[in-house]
Amino acid sequence: MSEDIAKTSQRTPWVIGNWKMNGGLAANQSLLAAMLPALNAGGGRTRRARVGVCAPFPYLAQLQSALEDTGVAWGAQDVSDKTSGAFTGQVSAGMLAEFGVGLALIGHSERRQYNGESNVLVAAKAAAALAAGITPVICVGETLAEREAGQHQSTVAAQLAACAPVLRQAGSAVIVAYEPVWAIGTGKTASPAEAQAMHAFIRDQLRLAATACADCSVLYGGSVKASNARELFAQPDIDGGLIGGASLIAADFLAIVAAA
Ligand code: PGA
Repeated sequence: MSEDIAKTSQRTPWVIGNWKMNGGLAANQSLLAAMLPALNAGGGRTRRARVGVCAPFPYLAQLQSALEDTGVAWGAQDVSDKTSGAFTGQVSAGMLAEFGVGLALIGHSERRQYNGESNVLVAAKAAAALAAGITPVICVGETLAEREAGQHQSTVAAQLAACAPVLRQAGSAVIVAYEPVWAIGTGKTASPAEAQAMHAFIRDQLRLAATACADCSVLYGGSVKASNARELFAQPDIDGGLIGGASLIAADFLAIVAAA
């Protein structure tokens, strides 16, 4: 799965659901059952965008059995920077790989905010994922205070600069998600022009880190809905989306996939 992802990640449009700490065995099963017939139509070959879902750790085995051979990728929402040892509560990339995990969200703003994850730790986690053959989805984005202070570009540049070594190593086999913190779960979306401006900036920063990185997929996240997805995804530097709330409603998620 991950090798396949790496091969197709050159500005491949992606729509990735981030279930966050939601769901349960029965709820996940109904959600997947409601989405899979449409996602699998024509063997998935009629879809332009690749699709993935990132679930809490305990449900990765469920995703593996439900999604194997469907062309839908599954992923984790975090990964340890360590490979093994006395790190209670952590989950290594090698363990995730055993469950066929192809994607791992790294440095989501909720982890930076509630778990104190630094840019340095985020880079180490991305490197650990990559070493296990898992495509890191590196999340970057500024807070409202940083945007209002005119520091949105410098914040995102610093987040990416910390990841420069892993970006150089990954080339295009990495996904970057721009998620302005003020737009996550707030119903407030960056305007297509605001999002495009930051995506163009991100692509420049990626090009500075490594030429090959300029071709990686850069997704937008933050209150993407069926009603705004098409306009956001039409921007020249936006390659799809990372979807939180709307990924929990089958019809909404499918409409967003169709917009990509
Ligand atoms: P949201 O979350 O779509 O609910 O705003 C996006 C994310 O946090 O990945």
